[in-house]
Amino acid sequence: MIAINSITPQTRNYADKKQINFCGEACVEKLAKDVFVGARNVLIQETAFFREPDTLEFIKKYIQKKFAAKSEINILDGACSKGYETYTIAMITDNCGKNVNITGFDLGNKAINEAKKGVFLVKEITGDKNNCVLLDMHTAANNDTYLAFHTNILSRKEAEYKKLFNGFFTEIPYQKPKQSFFERLADMTFKKYEPHIAIKAFKINPDKADKCKFIQGDVMKLDEITSPHKTDVLLFRNALYHLTTAENEISYRAPLYPEIVTQTIEKFVRQIDKAIGDGGLFVIGTHKSDHSKSVAPILYKNLKECGFRPVYYENNVPAIWRRI
Ligand SMILES: C[S@@+](CC[C@H](N)C(=O)[O-])C[C@H]1O[C@@H](n2cnc3c(N)ncnc32)[C@H](O)[C@@H]1O
Repeated sequence: MIAINSITPQTRNYADKKQINFCGEACVEKLAKDVFVGARNVLIQETAFFREPDTLEFIKKYIQKKFAAKSEINILDGACSKGYETYTIAMITDNCGKNVNITGFDLGNKAINEAKKGVFLVKEITGDKNNCVLLDMHTAANNDTYLAFHTNILSRKEAEYKKLFNGFFTEIPYQKPKQSFFERLADMTFKKYEPHIAIKAFKINPDKADKCKFIQGDVMKLDEITSPHKTDVLLFRNALYHLTTAENEISYRAPLYPEIVTQTIEKFVRQIDKAIGDGGLFVIGTHKSDHSKSVAPILYKNLKECGFRPVYYENNVPAIWRRI
């Protein structure tokens, strides 16, 4: 029951090769046959440290000001992928004077196992980027290269984040993952179209490793992850499109039937509503697909009906909602 009526090439914010946004992880996890998410059989796990920094700054200030009286804060990082985002939350809330419980969950089993290892890669594209036909395949949502590589001028925020990063992570030797014969063959065949990539690996420091917990979980079954109204901040950034569009391995994305989208969003918002406590935040982020014409009116209407109001806009979309 899936309508693939208007297939368009997937648009990504890093499509413009003149503005390279690179780092984090751009990869997919193939789903087990018994896991069904919309019309997908792959999960896209591109992510990065300190993605959408203005949104992060809003969350930090909100915790400090609006939850000033609370000594303990519960944060649930949905669709956490390999944990870059979850540790980002840990870094920005470190030393906020509160006991902050942070749990990252993701539908992808492999992603969660990677997150638990606490080893993270930061990458830099070197060489002539304009001639890299396969550049898109290696790019992710945001640029965190500055955390690990020498860049000439850092903004005040970047310098602050780099300091936080150095307090959480220690560089370790990067070990290239073992490749199958076919992967090596593909590498050799496409080498000349690929960008040159420098990779550095980092491990979470032992004293920071217990700041984040990771579990496999589905946002549509939040009851299995958290108790009702105990969550102060719930993030599900850049991921709702997984539930509302169809996409195959070659990254063609198409909306699902409107009835399916409506039902899915209604159920999604009910889960969010049940999990978040009074004054709590729901962070949807700014991904275009999560605010598209087929998703936004239904999402916003359902959130409003449940008593949520937008409190922070980024790129003209309501990225953060507050439960009144
Ligand atoms: C593009 S990543 C977003 C990562 C991160 N939130 C960020 O903004 O950098 C999308 C993630 O959503 C996860 N995902 C998709 N459907 C999900 C669901 N029903 N429940 C939990 N996670 C899901 C995917 O496995 C994938 O890791």
